[in-house]
Amino acid sequence: MRILGIETSCDETAVAIYQSDQGLLDHAVHSQIELHRQYGGVVPELASRDHVRKVLPLLREVMERTETTPDSIDGVAYTAGPGLVGALLVGAAIGRSLAMAWDVPAIGIHHMEAHLLAPMLEADPPAFPFLALLVSGGHTLLVAVTGIGRYEILGQSLDDAAGEAFDKTATLLGLSYPGGPALAELARNGNPDRFRFPRPMTDRPGLDFGFSGLKTYAINTLRAHGDDDTTRADIARAFEEAVADTFVIKCRRALRATGMGRLIIAGGVGANRRLREELMSMATKEKAHVFYPRIAFCTDNAAMVAYTGWQRLRAGFQDADTGFKVRPRWSLATLEPL
Ligand code: KG4
Ligand code: ZN
Repeated sequence: MRILGIETSCDETAVAIYQSDQGLLDHAVHSQIELHRQYGGVVPELASRDHVRKVLPLLREVMERTETTPDSIDGVAYTAGPGLVGALLVGAAIGRSLAMAWDVPAIGIHHMEAHLLAPMLEADPPAFPFLALLVSGGHTLLVAVTGIGRYEILGQSLDDAAGEAFDKTATLLGLSYPGGPALAELARNGNPDRFRFPRPMTDRPGLDFGFSGLKTYAINTLRAHGDDDTTRADIARAFEEAVADTFVIKCRRALRATGMGRLIIAGGVGANRRLREELMSMATKEKAHVFYPRIAFCTDNAAMVAYTGWQRLRAGFQDADTGFKVRPRWSLATLEPL
């Protein structure tokens, strides 16, 4: 089966083609960073309009490079939620229209399920069951995964998601959107011993998260120590360390509680090198294996959407014939198992 994947849930337009017996054939991503930068964050209306402009040119590019003709495509997968409603509607409308024109099934994909399955695109994919730490701009989830569509949410963010906390803290350190990677870059020059930030919600049992207090801690530290370049780098370093260590503590707790021997990390914040290294070293001590998607498949992409689409289509799932809807809010726990 050859599956086209389309991702337009937020500020990346992406297209990919996955072939069941060969793996990923090709993918392309257009980032809207330049478009939103002057506003300091994603402007939903501009995001939708830019998706309209970019999906078909990207699709043409990927089809040409893979010598894919419309009659060789067996299904279309598009992100149906969660995300920005206008942005999702662009991918859904184009995906459903192409599927109708090509007379193949379409399927709306859950964006976080796609992130969760992204490690399956790598050479050494994890076997089920595994523990998944999903860390994106809008979601922080710790999930026990026993199969595709079998997701038990063990913990989640009660306030800001990890990516959101990175982005907001970056803004108050004077860094421009998108804050996460910029903050990580600044932290490289920071002194790890100058400040120690709290590890939120680690002193009580449970696996939920809450990162919004770290932002307040960062503001107060900035006020108390003066707003110079060195202090900002030291704060970035302390912030990044606190987030990484919080994930280390919670993932260790979840590995021990579930007895699972595999941990996957996915979503945009999974691109953070310090987080990757610290989780890796914790897991080694716990005798667990860690799996990551390559950096480009941590952040938003269509390869993970095409792969998830293939898994669901071949299991017999597909959108109903008439109409279509997107789901800006959509719980991972409500998905149907394969
Ligand atoms: O998964 P993603 O690309 O989009 C969503 O589904 O939300 O995640 C985007 C988030 C943003 O908050 C971004 O700042 C963060 O991931 N991010 C990072 C890094 N790269 C992306 N955060 C920390 N360090 C990074 N290297
Ligand atoms: Zn995402």
